[in-house]
Amino acid sequence: MAEAVDISVKLGNLTLRNPFIVGSGPTVKTVDQIREAEDNGWAGVSIKLAIDPAPYINRPPRYRWLKKQKLHIFTAESRLTPDVSLKLIEEARRFTKDILVFPNITYDGKDREGWPLLAKRYEDAGAQAIELNMCCPNMSFNLTATGENPEQATGASLGSDLVELPRVVKIIVDAVKIPVFVKLTPEGGKIAQAAYQSIHAGAAAVVSVANRLGIPDIDIRNPMGTIYRLQDNITLGCLSGPWIRPLALRDTYEMRYYLGPEPFIMGSGGVSDLQSGVQQIMVGSDAVQICTETMLRGFDWLPKMLEQLKSYMREMGYRRIRDFRDLLHKNIKAADELTIYDGYARVDPEKCNSCGICWKIGHCPAISHPEDVTTIDHDKCLACSTCVDLCPKGAIGMEAK
Ligand SMILES: Cc1cc2nc3c(=O)[nH]c(=O)nc-3n(C[C@H](O)[C@H](O)[C@H](O)COP(=O)(O)O)c2cc1C
Ligand code: SF4
Ligand code: SF4
Repeated sequence: MAEAVDISVKLGNLTLRNPFIVGSGPTVKTVDQIREAEDNGWAGVSIKLAIDPAPYINRPPRYRWLKKQKLHIFTAESRLTPDVSLKLIEEARRFTKDILVFPNITYDGKDREGWPLLAKRYEDAGAQAIELNMCCPNMSFNLTATGENPEQATGASLGSDLVELPRVVKIIVDAVKIPVFVKLTPEGGKIAQAAYQSIHAGAAAVVSVANRLGIPDIDIRNPMGTIYRLQDNITLGCLSGPWIRPLALRDTYEMRYYLGPEPFIMGSGGVSDLQSGVQQIMVGSDAVQICTETMLRGFDWLPKMLEQLKSYMREMGYRRIRDFRDLLHKNIKAADELTIYDGYARVDPEKCNSCGICWKIGHCPAISHPEDVTTIDHDKCLACSTCVDLCPKGAIGMEAK
């Protein structure tokens, strides 16, 4: 009989049936989407951002999925009003039973008191938790970055303010009984410290990371043009999808390192399959949020991935998610602690077709090509291995000395 593995995850008094949650975004705006997510085994949904008072930037969506770069980018996006999202929470709670439903919220008034009042309304509507949006770079952060002077700090601006952030978190935590999650941004360069402040202000979990802000590809022959369809102009855009994965892994890693083993972390950023999901857990995530991949592929790929996760765990001898959470922390070393072996590159003349690609490597003192025969001087070789990656014929390998 196959060994039993448990993929559920405990978050305080809540139990997630598995670690995978649909991240706040355009796939979590209707009851039908939430029901479909539940039917396909997702453990939770973070409802699309609601801004109170009504959003000041609220445009119809214009997205680009840049397939080659594996990068999703957008600036224009529609948000929910609290009334719409509160109704959605009520309905979702009525029509679902196995999925954790929580809103993603921002208060944009001048006072701080609006935050707990807003949070309370969600608690009363049946939300099982509340996620504070301290991450969106497409609100005041975008305006500041493009030279404007917004009245209030919201999203990524507030989330990177290490003084104001814990104050806001605390008044909300004090006002509601349900768990408060804080979704953070790496944009201020201090996501681990922001996570620490949030946990110490009473947050039940911290979430990393939302979109990063960037400039999309520019057509240098038409630099004033746009990559978007049915939209003039570009502005700093919100990046997501597999492209941001290495940065997102590092953010979770740093948060876990800084917070220690206890606090609950939800990681996100470019997760699209078993491999990337497990990697997020290995750097410190208890649960994993996924947004872009649900935009591109819907929800129905999760059941297969859950089966893959179970077989993977059996194969590796893991019985619980916690057995491989943080695993990479043992392996990630400081730069001065690396073990590096002496060696050199060796070329296989049978495979080399003298294409000349490796002859051009700018930093290489070892490769020459007398009479077009690729030759590597082992004594001069730095053993950097760039040539191995560049050779289209697989003709170069590394040897330890
Ligand atoms: C179109 C779009 C809309 C998003 N809207 C929200 C939002 O309303 N609130 C939020 O906290 N994050 C939002 N996000 C961020 C995602 O929830 C997620 O944190 C981020 O995209 C990284 O994960 P991913 O690569 O799986 O998308 C949005 C992302 C996209 C692509
Ligand atoms: S390993 Fe680096 S230094 Fe050595 S041959 Fe290849 S590119 Fe040159
Ligand atoms: S890149 Fe590979 S195939 Fe091309 S010359 Fe170098 S070793 Fe030969």
